[in-house]
Amino acid sequence: MSTQYTDSVKLYAARRHEALFSGNIPASDRPVVHLESQIGWMNDPNGFSLYKGRYHLFYQYHPFSSVWGPMHWGHAVSDDLVHWEHLPAALAPDERYDSSGCFSGSALELADGRHLLMYTGLSQTGRNPDGTPANRQIQCIAYGDGVDYEKYEGNPVIDSSQLPEGSSPQDFRDPKIWACEDGGFRCVLGSLDAERSGQILQYRSADGISWEFECVLASNHGRYGVMWECPDTFVLDGKQVLLVSPQDMLPEGNEFMSGNGTLALIGHLDDQTGALVEEATQSIDYGIDFYATQTLETADGRRVMVAWMQNWDTTSVGSVQPWFGQMTLPRELHVRDGRLYQWPVREIEEARRNRVAYEDVLVEGLCVLDGVRGRCVDLTLTVRSADEDDPYSEFFVRFAQRGRFRSSLCFRTRDRSLMINRKHSGLRRAVVKDRKCKLLSYDGTLRLRMILDRFSVEVFVGEGEQTMTMTIPTDPSFDEITFFAEGKAVMDVEKYDLV
Ligand code: FRU
Repeated sequence: MSTQYTDSVKLYAARRHEALFSGNIPASDRPVVHLESQIGWMNDPNGFSLYKGRYHLFYQYHPFSSVWGPMHWGHAVSDDLVHWEHLPAALAPDERYDSSGCFSGSALELADGRHLLMYTGLSQTGRNPDGTPANRQIQCIAYGDGVDYEKYEGNPVIDSSQLPEGSSPQDFRDPKIWACEDGGFRCVLGSLDAERSGQILQYRSADGISWEFECVLASNHGRYGVMWECPDTFVLDGKQVLLVSPQDMLPEGNEFMSGNGTLALIGHLDDQTGALVEEATQSIDYGIDFYATQTLETADGRRVMVAWMQNWDTTSVGSVQPWFGQMTLPRELHVRDGRLYQWPVREIEEARRNRVAYEDVLVEGLCVLDGVRGRCVDLTLTVRSADEDDPYSEFFVRFAQRGRFRSSLCFRTRDRSLMINRKHSGLRRAVVKDRKCKLLSYDGTLRLRMILDRFSVEVFVGEGEQTMTMTIPTDPSFDEITFFAEGKAVMDVEKYDLV
């Protein structure tokens, strides 16, 4: 028998916990335009989909504490991709095959009006020869109405017998499903091959229930980290794009940092094999907290991506709130000249209030502008040298500032590097505090758009050809924004509060 939500003790316990305690968290302790966990722990975005005209965003969830635990699916809904309403938890690890967790997955609306969830079920199956727990990862589905979901009685729908030879049954997860024009479905999954290097497997199905292996869409061959998690693939601006989240990265110049990273592979599909022929690869984000991307297509055809605004290695920072984990702002994607461009969804413009603008402000040393402050802010800066023959050397914008506390962006003209820095943000843990990227398209004018929220900053460089994302623990009332130039810079500023 499948589990009806009403029969599930574990789902009932999660929903009861939410109902009893999440209302005690005041809105002022939550982000304004970012989705955070209803209560407890959040990681990857799951099931990002349009269902009956509303956006649904589920997430990896452990409601009972602000640290990772047996994974549930949290659930939220939105009409504008910016303001989210929490719904009751959607899935709990209540079956034998998912008793250690309902891991990441995706969702879509079926032609018959049901909402289909596809996820990885994790269970412990004994011990490995070295004594460590042996896990099994299998792919499962659940059907629902946008609030309540029922696991399919025939789960799993894909198990390790459908893995290509040599692949690891313990690393086989995160299905991303999409509907095909012929009425059938495809999904991609992350896995480890016989060399224990990441590979993305593609499966096809006529009904979403019975699946067969189709091809290896892409292989890591040991280049970018080890396991590739959370794949997503789509056609955009005439290119095939594959987004993955590699674990255990080694650093590579300013492109990749060590730890968990994100990678966009851009190319086309081989007619014969169906595999991705790579034309370009890049980091998706150059900040510190960004992982596990997932996309949907809006009704008007935009490809929109969210990511977990966190980094596994910085989760030790913990939370002073009873919630932990946020999503990035949904970002509209494009491919131009073989590069992924990202921009905040245009819906955020409806949340802007109180425009303050300055033009041609001379910045020489410290500069403070009337009306330019705040922690929930959409800020656009355009910066150039006052004298082209004598360029400024460094330009800083400091934010979330008061007394000894601040975070910053620093642009250095000499090597066109942009550094994001939270050393003085109030962090008390020895985690990554800064990261740098080299601007790709610097033509003498620095263009930055920054979305500040109570616990984060997202930076969009130029037209979105590079982004930098980071969380900050700074007291949300520390709201000064200041500018500083070594040399003489001239700046235009446009600032809105976000509500
Ligand atoms: C990525 C990930 C996924 C997995 C989930 C478990 O952050 O490790 O591969 O499904 O988190 O919570």
